[in-house]
Amino acid sequence: MLKLLTIIICIAMSSPIQASYVITLGKNSQVVFPHKQHQKSLGGCTDCHGSNTPGPIAQIGEKWVHDTCKGCHMESKAGPIECHECHAQI
Ligand code: HEC
Ligand code: HEC
Ligand code: HEC
Repeated sequence: MLKLLTIIICIAMSSPIQASYVITLGKNSQVVFPHKQHQKSLGGCTDCHGSNTPGPIAQIGEKWVHDTCKGCHMESKAGPIECHECHAQI
């Protein structure tokens, strides 16, 4: 029991920022967002978190993700643009 608890605590402490999020909105959307990969390749936090302390994004929602996520992918010609590339079910 103690061993199991120790393992759980170790896992929790080694990942203060999750490697990837499943961002969900509404009933149908389950989009995987590789957070850590973006942190590395974009080399910072401001593209998505602005000048705020990085954390939950207040304005997150359909409009924000499509403008921000898809917008950057189109501009940088990298990353998914087609619906089905993000939404496995569309
Ligand atoms: C490409 C976009 C993007 C970049 C770049 C980015 N994030 Fe995030 N981050 C997100 C999204 C989307 C969420 C989920 C927000 C929500 O659910 O409200 C998030 C959530 C978070 C959270 C809250 C959840 C948690 O695990 O505690 C933290 C902290 C965070 N980001 C830190 C960072 C840091 C630090 C950086 C820079 C090194 C960074 N982020 C770069 C998009 C990004
Ligand atoms: C770059 C990835 C990406 C692409 C490309 C994309 N979406 Fe999304 N979309 C998302 C994310 C992430 C959310 C969830 C937002 C949230 O949790 O706040 C979302 C939310 C939605 C929602 C609202 C959620 C729901 O289930 O009702 C709809 C509808 C939607 N997208 C349709 C589309 C359609 C149609 C296209 C193609 C024209 C498209 N999306 C392209 C990432 C994407
Ligand atoms: C400022 C630019 C930028 C923003 C904002 C951004 N991305 Fe990306 N994304 C990229 C780039 C560049 C790539 C290409 C792979 C790489 O360099 O990491 C990418 C790749 C991806 C991939 C494919 C990963 C793989 O391994 O093939 C997914 C999925 C993705 N992005 C989802 C999202 C979602 C969802 C959001 C919004 C929450 C988002 N991205 C916001 C720049 C961005």
